[in-house]
Amino acid sequence: MKQRGKEILLTGGTGQLGKEILKFLSKKFNVYAPTREELDLEKTDKIYRYCTKVKPHILILAGAYTDVDRAESEKEKAFKTNFLSTKEFVKYAAEKDRILIFISSDYVFDGKKEIYSEIDLPQPLCFYGKTKYLAEKEIISNLKKYFIIRTSWLYGEGKNNFIFKFVEKVKTEKNIKVVTDRYGSPTYTKDVALALITLIYSKRYGIHHIVNTGKVSRFKFAEEIKNLMKLNVKIIPVRAEEFGGVAKRPFSSALKNIKFSSSFYPLRDWKKALKDFLKEKFL
Ligand SMILES: NC(=O)c1ccc[n+]([C@@H]2O[C@H](COP(=O)([O-])OP(=O)(O)OC[C@H]3O[C@@H](n4cnc5c(N)ncnc54)[C@H](OP(=O)(O)O)[C@@H]3O)[C@@H](O)[C@H]2O)c1
Repeated sequence: MKQRGKEILLTGGTGQLGKEILKFLSKKFNVYAPTREELDLEKTDKIYRYCTKVKPHILILAGAYTDVDRAESEKEKAFKTNFLSTKEFVKYAAEKDRILIFISSDYVFDGKKEIYSEIDLPQPLCFYGKTKYLAEKEIISNLKKYFIIRTSWLYGEGKNNFIFKFVEKVKTEKNIKVVTDRYGSPTYTKDVALALITLIYSKRYGIHHIVNTGKVSRFKFAEEIKNLMKLNVKIIPVRAEEFGGVAKRPFSSALKNIKFSSSFYPLRDWKKALKDFLKEKFL
């Protein structure tokens, strides 16, 4: 039985995280998850009107311009999709006193710390990170009932993640270069979606870091995938500067879930989540 009076609007429902959120939420709620054709986030003048049509009780913003390198040359598109669209949803949520959930990113941080908690101050290095931080500030200044969920190094359904790209590359290459000097918290989208549902039922508004526990370099992450999948490939360690990449990325963007784990439960360790994901999808 679906809960009445709890209509949910979800953007990014075709993305890897959005798909997972939709799967869980649609069992309990009426979820409107417009495709890009139905609601293009770049066409910001359409957003408020769309909200007045579907009258959501909760707005979940998982849609975003996520190509971190391309955002450096397509600044206008990234700015509209990630910041200006959020501003419109915030306007609606503020006027109607609705709950807004925004999916933000580890890339709001500058990478100078080993690991970041919710109270650390963002200082984004790349344009994508700047758009996410601007959106966060817009939410904090205008709303009381909001959740800002910062997550990192996501993988799940679909092709837009490191694991899928790595596994595809192994099919044609026997030596693959992976960077050693970038650290993060690899996170299974399923665990973020489950945590988000816990938050919806709570009133613990504010910023929450939601990642699988722990920190690892890209290189060690690739080694773990290789070992678990028994892949026949040599992983060559390289430094980020050798690798290229247009956008400036933080040295470490690993996150700690201080708030969520003290209020609810600790998210599982990244190695355990990875093992389960690979078993479910590949093995
Ligand atoms: N991936 C990561 O490692 C990572 C890390 C930290 C935070 N995040 C954040 O987590 C959220 C989900 O990321 P993800 O990895 O699931 O992203 P994703 O797989 O790249 O999906 C992005 C979603 O946004 C939609 N979208 C993009 N531009 C749009 C537009 N102009 N109009 C309407 N829809 C548009 C896409 O629709 P189409 O299917 O039509 O393209 C897709 O549904 C994002 O907010 C992202 O910033 C991601």
